[in-house]
Amino acid sequence: MSRSIPFNRPCLTGNEYQYISQAIANGHASGDGPFTRKCHEFLEKELQVGKVLLTTSCTHALEMAALLIDCGPGDEIILPSFTFVSTANAFALRGARVVFADIRPDTMNLDESRLEPLITKRTKAIVPVHYAGVACEMDAIAEIAQKHGVPIIEDNAHSLFARYHGRYTGTFGCLAAQSFHETKNIICGEGGALLVNDRDLVERAEIIREKGTNRSQFFRGQVDKYTWVDVGSSYLPSDLLAAFLLAQLEARQEIQKKRRRVWEYYYQHLQDWAQETGVRLPFVPAGCEQSFHMFYLVLPSLDHRQALVSHLKSEGILSVFHYTPLHLSRMGQKFGGEQARCPVTEEISDCLLRLPFYNDLAEEDQARVVAAVKAFSMERPALVL
Ligand SMILES: Cc1ncc(COP(=O)(O)O)c(C=O)c1O
Repeated sequence: MSRSIPFNRPCLTGNEYQYISQAIANGHASGDGPFTRKCHEFLEKELQVGKVLLTTSCTHALEMAALLIDCGPGDEIILPSFTFVSTANAFALRGARVVFADIRPDTMNLDESRLEPLITKRTKAIVPVHYAGVACEMDAIAEIAQKHGVPIIEDNAHSLFARYHGRYTGTFGCLAAQSFHETKNIICGEGGALLVNDRDLVERAEIIREKGTNRSQFFRGQVDKYTWVDVGSSYLPSDLLAAFLLAQLEARQEIQKKRRRVWEYYYQHLQDWAQETGVRLPFVPAGCEQSFHMFYLVLPSLDHRQALVSHLKSEGILSVFHYTPLHLSRMGQKFGGEQARCPVTEEISDCLLRLPFYNDLAEEDQARVVAAVKAFSMERPALVL
């Protein structure tokens, strides 16, 4: 059998080893060293965000966001059911009730037309997820949020450098969470960032990230000793990880160019086939500049999806499904989730399949993926065991 094609492969850009060696030589392997500062400055300048704080993961950035809005029992958080568990868990951890919104069938993003009826006087935040690097309808979501005085926290895990009507995603909410997990566009293994767009939250964000202490103020010489001033935890990554991340951030144009090529190859070569077979390809609305995070197919049924996964596997190609509906999970049911509550989420969860996607995916390998997809019989899906 020919060489197998993985779903994801972490790709280096060249300076990672050198920067990590430098970080070791600096003698500052813990958090908030010179490389962390450079990553902060890079992201603040690039995204035009008031304050960026690297975190150990996007999960932890979301947990910080929950602490920053004082989320607690009695509060409700609206988020799409079609998302990663951390989007919900961060708020459930604080005792809040998660309210599941359904998604749009075209972008898989929170359906803004179904958002308003979910808002109650207990709604503490709305958490849109920009799925696959394509922005949610932020104008409509922001209008509803503003009308009801509810803050927005963006889960921007997939969407660093995506734009909505010219403005970067991650800059619409009072807070936004970023992921640098090895499956993302820009990586450091495990890592994340909190984008703080609301100035009033900056000081407390620094404190929460530093175990509830005012250590950051101490290092800036603003206080003469540091002490326990609030709740918090240890959310700052080692400077070794920041060194890795800086190398990736600096190569961001090259990375995005490569990912754009991969995405466009799939789109161009599968477009006609998709039209003939009724398979849906990703949709990018006018006004959205995507981040080229992934490429997916939406098959006509669960049987088709499972059969295609097996067929590709038999060809040595790893394709994967994505989120299972959170509202139907054991935890989700505790928040009132039940069958048919979010029908689009349920359908997409059954039918969506992600194709291999990474920066250095060779064109000849993509050609193999495309040929294998096209060779799949849509007529009578049969599982290849
Ligand atoms: C939408 C979304 N949010 C949050 C996360 C969590 O990211 P991390 O692994 O950096 O905690 C993921 C992970 O893939 C995700 O897909």
